[in-house]
Amino acid sequence: MELYRACYRSKINWGNMRLPLPDEIDKTLLRIRRINRKAGVTGALLLVDQHIIQVLEGLTGPVLDTVYCVMNDPRLEAIEGIIHEPADFRLFPNSLMFFRDLTDGLAASKHDVLRPLLDHPADVTREEAYRAFGHFAQELQEGRLTNDMLMI
Ligand SMILES: Cc1cc2nc3c(=O)[nH]c(=O)nc-3n(C[C@H](O)[C@H](O)[C@H](O)COP(=O)(O)O)c2cc1C
Repeated sequence: MELYRACYRSKINWGNMRLPLPDEIDKTLLRIRRINRKAGVTGALLLVDQHIIQVLEGLTGPVLDTVYCVMNDPRLEAIEGIIHEPADFRLFPNSLMFFRDLTDGLAASKHDVLRPLLDHPADVTREEAYRAFGHFAQELQEGRLTNDMLMI
């Protein structure tokens, strides 16, 4: 079965948020993880100032269906595709939707690979997106190795 990866950046349409941002995020993550579990879609979502950047991975049909859902979500606007391609493996195999809020700039001040997401808000390249998501994928992988070693 062919795996597919889609990654996009989108502007947040604040006018269409009904709840304060932290509540909106909690509610949305709960909902999308439930939908993604059924669809076999995994991925990661980064909140960066006025934008979100999301990577979606799974079988081609479900990933494209999810992109379509996202494109029709009134809370997002000006969606820019960054990656759209078949994938050999999932970067986030165990994450129904990994989430990080990068708006305080702290993580980016520690990790160079995250800086382009903040420094060039108008232009995130495929390579920059891969490096940033690769950073979190590796962090998760290392956590799993530690847990395996400790048998937890
Ligand atoms: C930041 C953001 C990320 C989203 N990610 C996903 C996703 O990973 N999977 C998905 O099915 N829908 C995703 N969506 C789309 C919404 O969850 C979608 O609008 C929702 O499924 C609508 O269904 P509902 O009206 O029945 O709640 C996302 C929406 C936003 C705003």
